[in-house]
Amino acid sequence: MLDEKKFDVELKLWAIIIPCHNCKIATKMLNGYLLDRPRIKPVVEDPTDNKKRYLILSEKVQSEDLSGIPDQKLAELRGLCEIEVQPYSLTLGYSYWGADHILKQILPRGLEIPSSFETIVKYKDDASFDLVPGHVAHLNITDDLLPYKNVIAKVIYDKNYPRIKTIVNKVGTITNEYRVPKFEILAGEDDMLTEVKQYGATFKLDYSLVYWNSRLEHEHLRLISVFQPGQTICDMFAGIGPFAIPAAQKGCLVYANDLNPDSARFLKINAEVNKVDDLVHVHNMDARDFISQLMQVLPAESNLKSNPTDVKLHNCDNTTHSNELSSLEETKLADQGTNSPDGISNNFQTSDGANGKDDAFVNRTSIKRHPENSHEVSGNGSNDSAGVSVDGRRKRVSNKRIRSSFTFARPWEHVDHVIMNLPASALLFLDVFRDLVDLKYWKGPLPWIHCYCFIRAVQTKEFIISEAETALKASINDPIFHKVRDVAPNKAMFCLSFQLPKEACMPLHE
Ligand SMILES: C[S@@+](CC[C@H](N)C(=O)[O-])C[C@H]1O[C@@H](n2cnc3c(N)ncnc32)[C@H](O)[C@@H]1O
Repeated sequence: MLDEKKFDVELKLWAIIIPCHNCKIATKMLNGYLLDRPRIKPVVEDPTDNKKRYLILSEKVQSEDLSGIPDQKLAELRGLCEIEVQPYSLTLGYSYWGADHILKQILPRGLEIPSSFETIVKYKDDASFDLVPGHVAHLNITDDLLPYKNVIAKVIYDKNYPRIKTIVNKVGTITNEYRVPKFEILAGEDDMLTEVKQYGATFKLDYSLVYWNSRLEHEHLRLISVFQPGQTICDMFAGIGPFAIPAAQKGCLVYANDLNPDSARFLKINAEVNKVDDLVHVHNMDARDFISQLMQVLPAESNLKSNPTDVKLHNCDNTTHSNELSSLEETKLADQGTNSPDGISNNFQTSDGANGKDDAFVNRTSIKRHPENSHEVSGNGSNDSAGVSVDGRRKRVSNKRIRSSFTFARPWEHVDHVIMNLPASALLFLDVFRDLVDLKYWKGPLPWIHCYCFIRAVQTKEFIISEAETALKASINDPIFHKVRDVAPNKAMFCLSFQLPKEACMPLHE
């Protein structure tokens, strides 16, 4: 139990009582001699006479004769009106002090208080406190502070309510497949359903059910800046959509998958909330099955050479493939046939089971464009190119449904980028790309793979590349490593980007 009385500080002060109509001018005269404390007004109403005001003097005025104030100022004041001097006592209690002031007093002196505690109430993202702009504050309390976790949580809760309604602490290390941390509720209501905003997109999520890491915001942004409107993106480990949603907002067609049914559910919700559900196909299956089935050429299609003029393709460096044109047709991308009632596909069976393939991957190229209805996504490559904001209070193009004016190739014909953000094991999934692309049907450059991984201090980038090459059974040309963040003293998260080697694909067979 926190004894709130312990934080009471009683100030013994003096106050001058004057008629309220003299208040303004008297306050000016006494500038520098009135109480100067944050959030405390030095002028208050006289409780016995509403026509009078108390001017509370600063601590430097110690006696009834007001000797702390220069004689000249006092003479001016007395010339203005009749004044009365009274002792004034003021208690600064628990509600007055900030969280850092209180925590410093509570936590034992001998204990080294992490410097990040200084920033707790400043809502900065740091090693031990990650305050997301929803209602859940997430603490990572270190071992030495564990005995104080409840009191720390209470103080943070008290000082931030109602903006923060739940305080949680991460317990243990994440070992489960879905990368969902375990949390204990330390203060407030047991409700982990929240909402976060990144680069103008809104993400709904339940912290207790899905993976979310607000520290990846820059990385999400960086990778999306590489994508061009009209490109096709596959996100194999999509979570609740921090790559998928902004990529779709930019005018990309996104196949997004996550094994965690709750992540897939929130991904679907987030696509709808951000009005990009026409451009985001949500799947709930193992990543290996997802990409294999997505890229599999339909038997019915295998003899069908699709028309290359239907396809707009881009290189990673934004050059348009020389022999391809944009057909400027509006795409209608609603999943058909294979989805569960909630619109999430967890298999690629058509409704009649004929081809074992999601119709959504098949029926996209035939819908004509209606320029007057379609919202043309700006192609300047900036984050907010689609101008999407789901903040209901702002009225820009925020409520517009994002439609792309591009016609997209089928995924076995062309995909521009594949995202694999499961750093602990994504490298092990790379073997799925062996013979996955059938060059006979492929159009344009091979996809860029963005494979996240951890590199320990004892490992080298060459080691990582050799792991990737072994999985692919092909050599990687010009790999690009981007350091995302340090995750531990000897461990960093990287993104390895490379273009799928031709050697890893099915040869052209006549
Ligand atoms: C590190 S999180 C990344 C989520 C998201 N892309 C992001 O950047 O925040 C990895 C995600 O992969 C999902 N996952 C784990 N194993 C998977 C598998 N075998 N197939 C598909 N998804 C998987 C987890 O549920 C989790 O949402």
